[in-house]
Amino acid sequence: MPSAPPRVPLGTWPTPVEAAPRLATHLGLEPDDLVLKRDDLSGLGGGGNKVRKLERTVGRALAEGADVLVTTGAAQSNHARATAAAARRTGLGCVLVLVGGPPARPAGNLVLDELLGAEVEWAGDVDADGLDGAADAVVERLRDEGRRPSRVPYGGSDALGVLGYVTAADELRVQVPDARHVVVAVGSGGTMAGLVVVLGAARVLGVDVGAVPDPQDRVLRLVRGVAAASPELLPAGATGAAADLVAADLRLPRDEVGDGYGLPTPASTAALRAAALTEGVVLDPVYTAKALAGLASAVRRGEVRPGERTVLLHTGGLPGLFGHRSTTGV
Ligand SMILES: Cc1ncc(COP(=O)(O)O)c(C=O)c1O
Repeated sequence: MPSAPPRVPLGTWPTPVEAAPRLATHLGLEPDDLVLKRDDLSGLGGGGNKVRKLERTVGRALAEGADVLVTTGAAQSNHARATAAAARRTGLGCVLVLVGGPPARPAGNLVLDELLGAEVEWAGDVDADGLDGAADAVVERLRDEGRRPSRVPYGGSDALGVLGYVTAADELRVQVPDARHVVVAVGSGGTMAGLVVVLGAARVLGVDVGAVPDPQDRVLRLVRGVAAASPELLPAGATGAAADLVAADLRLPRDEVGDGYGLPTPASTAALRAAALTEGVVLDPVYTAKALAGLASAVRRGEVRPGERTVLLHTGGLPGLFGHRSTTGV
């Protein structure tokens, strides 16, 4: 029987849920329809969704006897910053392999990466394979130096990391039992995958932010992967990993990406402002604001209707607001 390594506690659970009546009305929903699930308040190192996955992937690293974490991401990666914080919390070293080159003046997540003592390796202007290759080279270099590196997957999303969002979905089932739609930004796909495993594909509306070329296939692979690797850890009634699930069953619109990953759009900037002005809630410009923009367009096209309980998962990313400032118009 396969079994997952022990989870290492890193966050503050359960994260709260909050009513958002003014934002609901702004979107054209009934005031009681909309609930925010505040995974931005998960605690460690600035919080966000990555903490849940790291409880699993760092658990594996510790079980393997690792002494340093290695992960990859964009320059403003929230996952990289959260990994740096998890490394500090567990006494491990951390090397972040990031796309691009050193900026003249670090901002946003890069400031926190530095504060958290992560070693940053700049991979240059590379694609996904190039970034992976750069991280492989770092792992090799660390081994040559006598270190024991553990790779944390891109975005924290592999069959083990997804278990963090299986747990989150189970938490949400208790907090908002009548949720008809759960809306979430989709980057590497693990957050949506965990939600789908527990809540089923029909209740999860993923909004692609353009981080990967094939989000539907990735989410599907992760859903299948977590069900195969850790069947004993799936909660009772988790129906979303049915064998006949196909990519087309996933609700995953791609029309909020705009000019690309990491770039705000007029709709995401409007959403960022709307959340701030209606509820005093600060989103980030390139994940959660795109998720809210995706919810707004789902309401406009009648996919989400007044009277249907809707959860917007706030996955964090606040430091990115200060890393992307020049392009938000804020
Ligand atoms: C703030 C924020 N929200 C959402 C996501 C998307 O999560 P996932 O990579 O699990 O799809 C990320 C990471 O990419 C993120 O940093």
